[in-house]
Amino acid sequence: MTTAGNNLDPWYGSYAERTAGLAASEVRALFAVASRPEVVSLAGGMPYVSALPREIVTGAMDRVMRDRGPIALQYGSGQGAPALREHILEVMALEGIRASVDDVVVTTGSQHALELVTKIFIDPGDVVLAEGPSYVTAMVVFKSYQAVIEHSEMDEHGLVPEALRQKIAYLKAAGKTIKFLYTVPTFSNPAGVTLTWERRLEILEICRSEGILVLEDNPYGLLYFGGPPPHAMRSVEEDGVIYLGTFSKTLAPGFRVGWALAPHAIREKLILANEAAVLSPSSFTQLIIAEYLATADWKGQIDTFRGVYRERRDAMLQALSDYLPDTSWTVPNGGFYVWLTLPANLDSKSMLPRAVKELVAYTPGTAFYADGGGRNKIRLAFCYPTPDFIREGIRRLSTVINGELELLNTFSQTAPLPLQRDKGSLINPPANLG
Ligand SMILES: Cc1ncc(COP(=O)(O)O)c(C=O)c1O
Repeated sequence: MTTAGNNLDPWYGSYAERTAGLAASEVRALFAVASRPEVVSLAGGMPYVSALPREIVTGAMDRVMRDRGPIALQYGSGQGAPALREHILEVMALEGIRASVDDVVVTTGSQHALELVTKIFIDPGDVVLAEGPSYVTAMVVFKSYQAVIEHSEMDEHGLVPEALRQKIAYLKAAGKTIKFLYTVPTFSNPAGVTLTWERRLEILEICRSEGILVLEDNPYGLLYFGGPPPHAMRSVEEDGVIYLGTFSKTLAPGFRVGWALAPHAIREKLILANEAAVLSPSSFTQLIIAEYLATADWKGQIDTFRGVYRERRDAMLQALSDYLPDTSWTVPNGGFYVWLTLPANLDSKSMLPRAVKELVAYTPGTAFYADGGGRNKIRLAFCYPTPDFIREGIRRLSTVINGELELLNTFSQTAPLPLQRDKGSLINPPANLG
């Protein structure tokens, strides 16, 4: 046996080709630094789990172990516990979805559902259409199955239907096989924008007529700050949409319980893929969540989360208009993220070490594009730090940005301050996120 190893890794030459897509994301590399207590981290999208009373969880856990201990500790169904799947229907009904319990497949977080869907659909070289910018770790999955990611343009109302139409025509003319459209239509990660109802219908119509499956990823839909957002895309289209949900943001990510709602035929393949990967999702955490949903005021708890995140969103928007009036940003009506646009000549990735030195962390925009886009964008997460820390974090960020602009100005013969800036003012979102 011969393997072309090197000093750092003797197995370097043995890895499958698809592992080339498994590069550590910028978000991941950041976690080590950003978790130092003196750093205000606006980087990771960690839910504020302290807003969930612990006794609610321990109570559900005690009852499960007392009444159904041997079942909770045993392997379960590859599709997921029937009692939990029934409750998942109630959760999805809040977003207009009517479905059969037979079509729900419980997974180890929705991240695992992304993996399973990709596994059953993608051959190397297949195209995944993804909104630009897109959730970074979905793109890591797509790349690890050797998909080619093609972005479709967004603006402050989400995906732009006409741009999608043109992109599909272009790819088809080039002979590409498009397997699905990946979208986070409600309070998107990272852009914080929401696809309008009219556009949802139009995009579904485009995908229907082009024979393209829609992968609707919806972790944040119930975390709205004003009125509820438009109903899920899956609420109007059953056969052409795989819908992903999760308890990570409305309860806690530590349970690692999410789900896929798939058209009947696809569901069968998903269950087989789930069994091949994990035999069955955790019986223990599924039963605890089922018990929680049966006995606790879970809608009230979601309301508590909404209040916490709304206050933090407000703190971030206020701090941005106080400290960074020359940048522009999206105004999310729910979820965890604000998408910041810097003056066009700044590079958020190369600025990051300076930001960390100033004790503030963020995620550079390039993490959310497969094609090098997003150089002057930043994702700011307001979900975890308290309002005071958010304000302090934005103040530190403004110091970094202003310092960077000064530096650029010093070394530039031709560009006096203020340097070229993207259009946009105060809380007006940028017209084009791409
Ligand atoms: C858009 C999106 N999809 C999927 C996930 C994965 O969530 P989980 O696996 O915890 O359900 C996340 C987590 O942040 C996300 O933002």
